Amino acid sequence: MILFRTKAELARFAAETKRSGKVIGLVPTMGYLHAGHMSLVDTARSRADVVIVTLFVNPTQFGPTEDLDRYPRDFERDKKMCEEHNVDVLFAPDANEMYASDSSTWIEELDLANPLCGASRPAFYRGVTTVVGKLFHLAQPDFACFGLKDAQQCFVIERMVRDLDFQVEIVPCPLVRDEDGLALSSRNRYLSAEERQRALSIHQALLAGRKELEEKGFAALDEICRKAIDSITAAGGRVDYVEGLDRATMKAPTADSREILLAAAVFFGTTRLIDNELVQVK
Ligand code: PAJ
Repeated sequence: MILFRTKAELARFAAETKRSGKVIGLVPTMGYLHAGHMSLVDTARSRADVVIVTLFVNPTQFGPTEDLDRYPRDFERDKKMCEEHNVDVLFAPDANEMYASDSSTWIEELDLANPLCGASRPAFYRGVTTVVGKLFHLAQPDFACFGLKDAQQCFVIERMVRDLDFQVEIVPCPLVRDEDGLALSSRNRYLSAEERQRALSIHQALLAGRKELEEKGFAALDEICRKAIDSITAAGGRVDYVEGLDRATMKAPTADSREILLAAAVFFGTTRLIDNELVQVK
């Protein structure tokens, strides 16, 4: 595995790889890797000649009061996991390398990014789309893998790719859970044993919501979300949102809706967790 710390090295490598006709698969991450990230890496490995993983805790997607400084990091462990999963290139720049100090240009998606995490974290998606756009320019991937753990992020990036004509196929990958149902996340590391136990209520509430939505249709959504909020609150969570939106529009479902994103963001202690279920509706 080759480790690059600079954009110039990555760009040169990608250009040479493209010239030789090889297929490049990209997996952008913020590190502190777990089985969810590695499922994306394995998917990329199964389809690409060359797999590039990026590891960059992107400052522009964190708000001033968020957890940028304490975001978990373990470079040696991440590097070893990438080697074990046959990654070809690990790109791990620092923030000064990634952004000029007077950087003033952004990529902003202004529709799908508005609700849910976009409403709670105003600068978040602008930071995500900007860094992902930069990584696409540098790594020139044929395809890039994104996890449905962050379903809205995945849809926002698909829209960015369509609107700005990036020649990249977005490959959405299934959400990976721990055995007890908790969605894997680097931030689970912050949870105490008791908080972790209580946090299982998120998945349980969303599963109950899925069942009811499948039975009753989207007309019951308000009631479904209210019940989910009540049961998560009873378990000690502070709910940021539980909402059901049309997957295609990220707006309230209508009679034309085919798939509903039932999504939750909840604080346990100071840790904000997200989870979701994608539900087909008749
Ligand atoms: P990060 O949270 O590190 O996640 C990197 C990728 O792994 C994302 O596509 C995310 O959806 C996926 N992922 C995380 N947990 C997962 C799980 N339990 N199951 C399946 N996939 C999972 O998302 C980001 O970083 C950043 O916003 C990034 C896109 C790298 C831009 O900075």
